[in-house]
Amino acid sequence: MKSALLANFSRLFGRPPEIVARAPGRIEFIGNHTDYNGGPVLGVAIDRSVWVALARRDDEQRQFASAQREDVIRLPVGRLEKMSGDASWANYPLGVLAAFPAFGLRVPAGFDYLALSDLPVGAGLSSSAAIELASALAFTAAVGECPSREVLVRAARHAENRFVGVPCGILDQGVSGFGRKDHLVFIDCRGPRFETVPLPAGAHFWVFNTHTHHALVDGLYAARHRECMEAAHALGATLLVDVRPEALATVAPGTLSPVAAKRAQHIVGEISRVSSSVEALRAGDLAAVGRLLTASHRSSQHLFENSTAELDFLVDTLAATPEVHGARLTGGGFGGAVMAMTSEKFDDGAARRVAAAYAQKFGASPDILHLQTGDGAGLV
Ligand code: GLA
Repeated sequence: MKSALLANFSRLFGRPPEIVARAPGRIEFIGNHTDYNGGPVLGVAIDRSVWVALARRDDEQRQFASAQREDVIRLPVGRLEKMSGDASWANYPLGVLAAFPAFGLRVPAGFDYLALSDLPVGAGLSSSAAIELASALAFTAAVGECPSREVLVRAARHAENRFVGVPCGILDQGVSGFGRKDHLVFIDCRGPRFETVPLPAGAHFWVFNTHTHHALVDGLYAARHRECMEAAHALGATLLVDVRPEALATVAPGTLSPVAAKRAQHIVGEISRVSSSVEALRAGDLAAVGRLLTASHRSSQHLFENSTAELDFLVDTLAATPEVHGARLTGGGFGGAVMAMTSEKFDDGAARRVAAAYAQKFGASPDILHLQTGDGAGLV
């Protein structure tokens, strides 16, 4: 990837880059929609990344290019407004630049910038967080600063929330920033506090991307966010992380609407499943972890109602396969991808059989990705 990036950069801008940064995508392991509720979540940084190359310029021009697009976006230094259409990918680096002052970070003036990725876009693997993190690292290197990883992660999330306009939690940026090969990232999202947990040997990750996408997915994500906040307030808490399972089980009738009760049950259940998963991972009990993964999906399916017939079919098919420890939707939901944790006996043939059963029912094949864990964002 690095040599392709360098070659592309020189071809486009007529000189080599000064800085190269890389940030990985992530799999949401367990803890669905817990992050913005202040709860814990587990994610895995993967071996697919977004790479950013940058060289400073002497003038007040910024040139943004992406290996995925033909055109170069040229903007004067003072212009930090949201782009649309084909240029909207540039909202990720622009959002990071716009976020920096709020974190006391300086922004570079003129530069040439190129992004290249081996991380599929729209596969639920958070290519957006990866490009934000890689950009943030490149920009700080360009002004000779080396902020903490936590500051970079928070600035990247700020970019996504305030500039791109997605009210996401800290999961995606946190995992891309703090990932470690052969480990999972545990985030206590209220702190936030970041830790790594060793992945027991023999666990394999497979992602099945359905390419289905609910037309209202952004609105539905925001709606779930709102429903969770309303449920917390009705229960006298600021965030659902402060609601104990016993309190939820004994809540007076009429305190919560039926919908709010389901959303709260999902989040409170997920919070305890994340803790149980950490214990089972530390004990090396992959079968127990797998059961928690599938239980998480069932909760998304029935209580949080962010699954779809396509995702349910994949989880049902995978869960019935002996080499699969567990499977669940990964990411925001309402379409997108399913992840499975399997033993090494699950192979390409087994994955293709799952895809073929899916294709027979839904008329299109999901993409299959066999992913390894990878290290978090860094300068290269
Ligand atoms: C998306 C968001 C994350 C998280 C998940 C659901 O991936 O970007 O912050 O809320 O959905 O867990």
